[in-house]
Amino acid sequence: MDAQQLPPVWANDVLGDVVISESEIASRVAELGAAITADYAGDPPLLVGVLKGAMAFMVDLARKVELRVDVDFMAVSSYGSATQSSGIVRIVKDLEADLTDRHVIVVEDIVDSGLTLNYLRKYLLARKPKSVEVCALLVKEGEQRVSLDLKYVGFTIPPTFVVGYGLDVAEQFRNLTGIFTYIGEGRHE
Ligand code: IMP
Repeated sequence: MDAQQLPPVWANDVLGDVVISESEIASRVAELGAAITADYAGDPPLLVGVLKGAMAFMVDLARKVELRVDVDFMAVSSYGSATQSSGIVRIVKDLEADLTDRHVIVVEDIVDSGLTLNYLRKYLLARKPKSVEVCALLVKEGEQRVSLDLKYVGFTIPPTFVVGYGLDVAEQFRNLTGIFTYIGEGRHE
């Protein structure tokens, strides 16, 4: 781990330590892109990014896949408390692409309980794709409430709340270049 990346001044009152630095993300994303390139050489997939959390990951990953992929986005909102999903998912923005007979890779920011992804996978499978696989940047260790078959995983992290590189709290901190633990106001109390 690159312990050198400090939180930026504009956010350092609410952030804890870096969990994954910008440079670690970049090298892992390149590896994931190379794996997808090798696995789908004969039949390029449709990459489906889940907004908004996967925004940064999708942009970086897609550019590391050396195939004629196309990309599409869905936006979902999961009912539940601010930090816990309920598994009941509302589709806020649906796909535009036709999935029939296509390989699909869902590009997801973080898998916590796994309920959001479980719902999405079933939703996409109903559209008769050739396959649906998942590429998740982060998986929280030991938190999954459903069994999920994740083909590509960037990093497994401890079950703490993190922000940055697309991940937010109350819509903020998505623009951090690394991933940090979120301590919140009151850190200095
Ligand atoms: P799940 O349904 O419990 O797996 O929750 C997945 C979704 O919850 C992710 O796509 C994120 O939007 C959000 N989420 C879960 N953990 C975190 C976190 O540590 N930081 C920011 N968002 C999170």
